[in-house]
Amino acid sequence: MKLNPKHLVTSLMLAVPLALASTASLAVERVTLKLAHNLDTTHVVHRALAQMAKDIDEASGGKMKLRIYPGGQMGGPRETLELIQNGALDMTKASASEMETFQPAYSIFSLPYVFKDSAHFEKVIYGPVGRELMNETKDIGFTAIAAYVAGTRSFYAKKEIHSPADMKGLKIRVVATPTTIKLIELLGAAPAPIPFGEVYTALQQGVIDGAENNEPSYVQTRHVEVAKYYIEDQHTSVPDFLVISTSTWNKLDDEQKQIITDAARKSEKYEHELWDQVVLESRQRAEQIGAKFIQVDKAAFREALAPLYDDFRADPVKAEWLEKIEAAAGE
Ligand code: GCU
Repeated sequence: MKLNPKHLVTSLMLAVPLALASTASLAVERVTLKLAHNLDTTHVVHRALAQMAKDIDEASGGKMKLRIYPGGQMGGPRETLELIQNGALDMTKASASEMETFQPAYSIFSLPYVFKDSAHFEKVIYGPVGRELMNETKDIGFTAIAAYVAGTRSFYAKKEIHSPADMKGLKIRVVATPTTIKLIELLGAAPAPIPFGEVYTALQQGVIDGAENNEPSYVQTRHVEVAKYYIEDQHTSVPDFLVISTSTWNKLDDEQKQIITDAARKSEKYEHELWDQVVLESRQRAEQIGAKFIQVDKAAFREALAPLYDDFRADPVKAEWLEKIEAAAGE
């Protein structure tokens, strides 16, 4: 067979970077990192993390492994963040609300209606404001290295809700943070801080009347089966973060750090690309199961929750982050 010089050039162009990549990975030290989180393996964030594990493996020529423990095997985010602080775990996933207890700056995501739209939200989480925030916990043992969109959170309950007045007296599960607790109280409801994995039983047994989450979590956890009314008030946009232990990070060499950083960035894109489709599918699935989506006047919820803004403006740390987020809307 006669070689076509054009093909030869193309294959050489392909071969050179590949050869460089594999020589580089030969030098990578072997390491296995443990990552635990509380989501189901079908959740899009888990899928992004599984993809990341593959990318890390591939880029390191099989020398770096990421072992994932899903479904809350090592506890909820509070426990896994504590395991990280104690040096017993390398990585976890935590929502911004769950990070709030460790670093108050993260409370900004639990402030209702703080983002104008999804473009504003994405500008914040993938832009300089988000990247700055992700470094804010370095001194307490961990850093966030990827942010994952998580749509909007709305209430869902066993009974119809059309306005804040309908929430009076209801017991609503929240991720326990000072901001979310106040949010529920301002609506005249009672906050119930129950771990994610226990919400289904609490709803089923009538311990709580409702909860709040995005559509994928509402459906994947089967909460939809026991709380049929999904109220589209869309009060918050709370992203998930991939977190790595500071001491693990400091033990990695520059090449290992680069491999992880690149894979983490890629996992953000992967998750983002899938998100809208997953929301759509979750809504369809919810309707098949018998869920009823209720449109509400968001202005009424916004008004009832406005006092939270006074709290934020009165707190120097929270006020500073609120200003940064508001400024990002206009950029
Ligand atoms: C969402 C979020 C999780 C969080 C959960 C919760 O599903 O993605 O990170 O743990 O909500 O409400 O606890």
